[in-house]
Amino acid sequence: MPTVNLSLGSRSYCVHVENNSLKNVGYLTGRLRLSGKAAVISDSNVCPLYGDTVIQSLEDAGFSTSLHVFEAGEQSKNLQTVEKIVNEMVAAGHDRSSFVVALGGGVVGDMAGFIASIYYRGIPFIQVPTTVMAQVDSSVGGKTAVDIAAGKNLIGAFHQPRLVVADPTTLLSLPDRVLREGMAEMVKHAAIRAPRMLRTLRHLASEIGIGFSLNTIEQLPGIIAENIAIKARIVEEDEKETCGVRAFLNLGHTLGHGIEASVPYGELLHGEVVSLGLRGALWLSHKYCGLPHAAEREILDTLKALELPLTLPENVTAERALQFTASDKKFSGGSIRFVLLKELGEPLLSGDVTADDLAEAMQLLTTQP
Ligand code: NAD
Ligand code: GLY
Repeated sequence: MPTVNLSLGSRSYCVHVENNSLKNVGYLTGRLRLSGKAAVISDSNVCPLYGDTVIQSLEDAGFSTSLHVFEAGEQSKNLQTVEKIVNEMVAAGHDRSSFVVALGGGVVGDMAGFIASIYYRGIPFIQVPTTVMAQVDSSVGGKTAVDIAAGKNLIGAFHQPRLVVADPTTLLSLPDRVLREGMAEMVKHAAIRAPRMLRTLRHLASEIGIGFSLNTIEQLPGIIAENIAIKARIVEEDEKETCGVRAFLNLGHTLGHGIEASVPYGELLHGEVVSLGLRGALWLSHKYCGLPHAAEREILDTLKALELPLTLPENVTAERALQFTASDKKFSGGSIRFVLLKELGEPLLSGDVTADDLAEAMQLLTTQP
């Protein structure tokens, strides 16, 4: 079974990636010596598919559980849902010895992790990610957050999970659009740390029909673990994004977050806006640090093969998306820290990108690549 360890001192943990491992969640949790009750948090799509298996596994391992389900989608990732679930947890008798199990995609993981970070001033939590996005990215690294009207993920906390259990067979039930958007974060990982993986991703893209096939699923634990290892090494180096290394994971996210926040939450998927943001970031990378056209082309071809968007949809105007880009967390004291790519596998953090550059890059996204 591929296992990736994150070495973060007293906050260290393991990420298990194995097909059909949902039924092992209870056993793996038992090894952590948690003694309290489990609050399983999930959404309205994932719970009917996998809730019983996870709850049964926890109960077989001796944990008592309560279940908290919210309406699926980014539009639920907010403080109202947090308050509702916290009230439910209090009513279910959870105290500071309890722990949270996040069962679902990045929305569940970000919000359940945030709840764990504030409930009784912080209780442990376990991530059981069920989307590509959550398995390769959001379940690992301890960033938790919710959205507010002013912008995405503007309220949150660093709170590392105690364990991550990723079962790639859960990806078989993903809608095609959700499956593909998650792969944008794999393209990002390849661009900043593992250019070889771009080829693997194009090959994978050719094997995706309507969703992953059973044959493809056999290859997934290895590819997912490779992505997690890329993120893990970066998080180990810069857990709270203070020295700049973790910021490399934001490649494509500055323009992407602006686009995402400019339409009602949930209308565009996170990976879709990352794909758009990557195109803008590559163009700026060529302008500022001479990223070779061939490298830019290879990344764009991979996004295209995965059928990810490279031009703004009709309901998004470049002007409006730009306004929301200004409230992004990567702005500090009025100037932006923008991630560029010097070469495939060579990201850098630049303070040179101007507001006019961002406007030009956003405008580029209204044209065909
Ligand atoms: P999501 O959680 O909304 O899941 C997408 C859709 O798929 C939802 O409708 C969900 O119910 C459904 N779904 C989930 N698993 C399923 C399964 N196995 N079968 C069928 N349907 C399933 O979205 P996401 O793309 O997983 O995550 C996006 C979120 O992650 C965003 O809020 C983004 O900000 C966040 N994110 C966080 C980090 C981080 O480091 N914390 C990193 C990247 C993204
Ligand atoms: N997804 C960006 C990070 O975890 O830092």
